[in-house]
Parts: sequence; C-alpha cells; structure tokens
Amino acid sequence: MAAFCPRRFSFLLLAVFVIFSALQVLAADEDRQVYIVYMGNLVDGDQSPSSYHFSMLQEVVDRSYLTAEEQEKLARHEEVVSVFPSTTYHPQTTRSWDFMGLAENVHRNPTVESDIIIGVIDTGIWPESESFNDKGSSPPPKKWKGACEGGKNFTCNNKLIGARYYNSYSPTDDSARDKMGHGTHTASTAAGNYVKDASFYGIAKGTARGGVPSARIAAYKVCYPSVGCREADILAAFDDAIADGVDIITISIGEAMPTQFTNDSIAIGAFHASQNGILVVQSAGNKGGQKTTIASVVPWIFTVAASTTDRGIITKAELGNGSILNGKGVNSFSLNGTSYPLAYGEDISHECGKQAAQNCESGCLETSLVKGKIVLCNTYKGIMEAYRVGAVGSVALSDYITDVSFILPIAASCLHEQDFHVVHSYFGSTKFPKVVILTSESGRNLDAPLVASFSSRGPNTILPDILKPDVTAPGIEILAAFSPLASPSDNDDDDRSVNYTILSGTSMACPHVAESSRLYKIISSPLVTVCNQISSYDNR
Ligand SMILES: *[C@@H]1O[C@H](CO)[C@@H](O)[C@H](O)[C@H]1NC(C)=O
Ligand SMILES: *[C@@H]1O[C@H](CO)[C@@H](O)[C@H](O)[C@H]1NC(C)=O
Ligand SMILES: *[C@@H]1O[C@H](CO)[C@@H](O)[C@H](O)[C@H]1NC(C)=O
Ligand SMILES: *[C@@H]1O[C@H](CO)[C@@H](O)[C@H](O)[C@H]1NC(C)=O
Ligand SMILES: *[C@@H]1O[C@H](CO)[C@@H](O)[C@H](O)[C@H]1NC(C)=O
Repeated sequence: MAAFCPRRFSFLLLAVFVIFSALQVLAADEDRQVYIVYMGNLVDGDQSPSSYHFSMLQEVVDRSYLTAEEQEKLARHEEVVSVFPSTTYHPQTTRSWDFMGLAENVHRNPTVESDIIIGVIDTGIWPESESFNDKGSSPPPKKWKGACEGGKNFTCNNKLIGARYYNSYSPTDDSARDKMGHGTHTASTAAGNYVKDASFYGIAKGTARGGVPSARIAAYKVCYPSVGCREADILAAFDDAIADGVDIITISIGEAMPTQFTNDSIAIGAFHASQNGILVVQSAGNKGGQKTTIASVVPWIFTVAASTTDRGIITKAELGNGSILNGKGVNSFSLNGTSYPLAYGEDISHECGKQAAQNCESGCLETSLVKGKIVLCNTYKGIMEAYRVGAVGSVALSDYITDVSFILPIAASCLHEQDFHVVHSYFGSTKFPKVVILTSESGRNLDAPLVASFSSRGPNTILPDILKPDVTAPGIEILAAFSPLASPSDNDDDDRSVNYTILSGTSMACPHVAESSRLYKIISSPLVTVCNQISSYDNR
C-alpha cells in the first residue's frame, strides 16, 4: 500500500473546485488509484473549499493512506453524494453540412454566431491547423473568462480562444497539443473556419468548414495515447469549461456501459454545466448492432447517434477479365492503373493451413511470396497481414463493418460477400488472375440517411422511460482537420502525415449536433433528424 500523497492531493483539490464541489482522494492502492468524492454544489461559507475538504478528510482519515473502511466512512458523510474510483473513458472514434441542409450560402447571423463558444473536451487540438485560422474573427466575446494555457509553443487566436490540458496521468505530455487527431477533428467539425480544397490525398475534396464557422473554440485535453481519458481529468475539464464561460460542451468520449449517474464524471460534469445554462452533447458510443449498447443515457445530456450522408467513398477493384467491383475502403495509393497478379491462401503461406492462410491470419503470409502481388483475403483483418508482409495491395471480404470506408495502410478494396464471390470464382477460372485497385472516389448514397451499423442503440438501461439516443447526425466518412503527428490509418507503421483526414464514429456525429442545436434557435430550420425511434430499432 502506497502512502497518501498530500501534495498531489491538494493540487487535485484546487483543480476541481472552482464551480462544484468534488474532491479527489488518493487511495491506498499500489497503483495510486484516485477516488472522486462528489459533494454536489459548492456551498458558500467562511472556509475556502480546499481547507474545508481537507478538514473533512482529516476527520475520516487518521493515517497517511485511505482504507476501504475510510472510503465508506467518507461516503457516509452527510455532505457527500458519492465516492467512486476514477476510471478510464475512451474517445469514440465535408459533405455532411450540405446534406443536413446547411449549405454554404445559408442565411447566417454572424454577430450572434460568433458569440458562441464551444468547449471541446477531447484529445487536445492542433492550433496551427488551417481550420482554426481566425480570419474574419473579432476578439473573444466579453463573457469569455478562460485562458490560453496550452503549454509551451502553443498559441491561441480569435478562433481558438482557449486551451487547457489535464495531465495528472501523463505528466510528460505538458501541452494541449493533439497527438491523436481525434480532438482536432471534432473541434474543426464543430466550428472550423472555411478551408478551400481540403481533402485526404484528393479524396472527399471540397471546402472544409465547421457547423458554425464563426463560433469560437476552447479545447480541453483529457485523453492521452495509451492512457485514455481519466475521469478525474474529465471532471476538472468540465469544471474549468463552466467557469470559462462556454455555451456548449461537446464530448465525444464515453464508457462501454452506463453507470449510476452519481458515479459517472460525465453525468456529474454535465449536470453542473446544465445548471449553468450550458448544453452538453455526447456521442452515443460505437457498440452498435445489439440492443441496449448505449453508453450515454443521462437525461440532461443530448446524445447523438451516427448516420450516413449521401456521399459514400468507394474503392474499385478491376479484374483481369474486365469486371469492375465497388468496394469499401479509403485508398490514397495509386497503382497507376497497372494490374498485379492476384495471390490466395496456400500459395503464399508456409506456416498456416489452407483456411488460416486464406483468411490472411496474422503471421501466415510469407514476405518472399507476396512480393509484387495483390492478396485475396477472406477477412477484413487480413488486410493488416497483407500490409505487414509488404504486398502491393489486398482484395478482402468485408466481414467487419460493411457501411463504412476506413483509411487503410495499403491499396485495398473491401467487398460485399456477393462481389467477393465473383473475385473468388474469377481466381479459380484463369491461370494468371490479375487485378488492379483504383484510388478511392466519391459515390452517391441514395438510401441515406441510415443509422450506422456501429452506432450504439437503446433502449436506455438505467432510465427506460427516456429514449436514447436523442438524435442522429452524420458520422460516416467525415473529412475534417487532423493532427499531423497522428497516423491516418491508426497504425504506427503508417507514417503518412496529413492535415485533413476521414474518420467515422458517433464521435464525428456529436460535434455536428453541438452546433445545430444552437443554430436551431438562430435560423430555425430543421437541422437534425430526430430519431428517438432508434431506441426501438433493434427491439423487435
Ligand atoms: C457507486 O459508488 C458507490 C460508492 O460510493 C459504490 O458502493 C457503488 O457500488 C457504485 N455503483 C456502481 C454502479 O458502480
Ligand atoms: C512548435 O510546434 C510546431 C508544431 O509541432 C513545430 O513545427 C515547431 O518547431 C515548434 N516550435 C518550437 C520553438 O518548439
Ligand atoms: C506510380 O507513378 C508514380 C509517379 O510516376 C510513382 O511515384 C509511383 O511509385 C508509381 N506507383 C506504383 C505502384 O508503381
Ligand atoms: C469475370 O469473371 C467472373 C467470374 O468468373 C464472372 O462472374 C464475370 O462475369 C466475368 N466478367 C466478365 C466481364 O466477363
Ligand atoms: C499541412 O499544413 C502545413 C501548414 O500548417 C503545411 O506546411 C503542410 O505542407 C501541410 N501538409 C500537407 C500534407 O498538406
């Protein structure tokens, strides 16, 4: 059992106390587990909150560490609402505005809109991104009380008006700079400025812009690579955002399963935000398919599902006999129209049996045998194995998510079962099967909007009378700004560095609504598809 650490304790106290009353206690475990003691609203009194909390703790704790008994004793204290361990949450990873009826030339009210401050609680932000240029922005509105405390070499402007970071678990990362890309993407989706000719290597090219391009952004970094997003940091970020004077908080972060509201930092933070007139918008989660997969069920949070837009990204595979198949995947690699031999299964594996080799299971393929070839794989995951051994490309069965194109680290086309069978029979029908994979292009999705397969579904497991999610918004193949330090295919070996990328998830849908819900009052047009019915979507 490690010692109770007063220095850290008082630091954390200060970090969390401005608006509401919660204190963090370092418990006695070896891993320095942080506990959050939630005490509801801050009560006015003679004593400063920190000294009051300290004396309350001294009452309970008579040694230099906390025992389980003492945690219970704290929890029984009449002023304490709950005591719970700080756990880890995760980020739930430009046609979309036009599709929602918010065309570029829509009548806007820039004086009102530029007063809107959006707090983004996420992985940080890339301040130099072109999407955060402050062309046309006046100085921050008077109600703004925040600060630009993004660390060294971090500058704000009249678009990105504030930044803070909470690194109690990653002290070496002392900057609000985004290394993961997720926060830059969500912030620019909510309020990025106009950027002409933005694209991912020419794919999805157009003018990138946020929902309200003149709104201001305040970034609160709580998520770190390989750490995730710690609840104690999330709570501190909510507290600051409320004090800083934001109008809306968008948080594309969540837990796998909902927990009791008094034990949930996002529920607590959002409660105090709403008491202060701030709307909190949260992504529903990406655990779709089954019923009750939803993680965001709190009534005072606006919960957002993800749906398709009318633009879909496709990657064509052209067989040697002339058949062209439309696959999924975002492919920026040009094969210059050249066909390559198609290889399959047992011919390119020494280690594995026929089926494992045909699936391109991890470790099955031989580098020397796939040189200059495109590999046919029975599974989506097989693309990663084809990439590992240096294949030119891959044609794979889309057995994973079939309604989304993800960025892949090699030229690859992911086919529906029917089209995959065509390739399979073509492979068997000729001695020298060949294929070429084309770079991605945009196609029209005539059946949009459809709720994404991955988007979490209700009903609400904690309060069944309140249907969740509340709305759906575009969350598939969204082009927005990115951190040039992050890998666009989420693969450490893929060292492409981009300023704009295409991501999918309820995370991407959430910032769309952050703006729309506010705009609703301003231009009163129907902006989001109200879809409480999704709650019963899978309920048959
Ligand atoms: C919430 O925290 C309390 C301690 O305050 C604990 O007893 C309870 O089990 C927690 N509930 C859940 C659902 O985690
Ligand atoms: C500041 O950050 C940018 C972006 O990472 C980098 O290019 C630049 O070299 C940094 N400047 C200093 C002085 O560290
Ligand atoms: C395609 O052509 C470009 C430009 O000539 C070249 O850089 C690239 O390596 C070629 N790609 C392949 C796969 O041959
Ligand atoms: C190519 O081969 C496949 C499989 O045999 C077949 O289904 C398809 O019709 C052929 N395409 C053309 C253009 O002949
Ligand atoms: C990304 O933006 C920077 C300026 O912030 C620019 O120097 C760089 O060339 C851009 N990279 C790409 C790939 O466009």
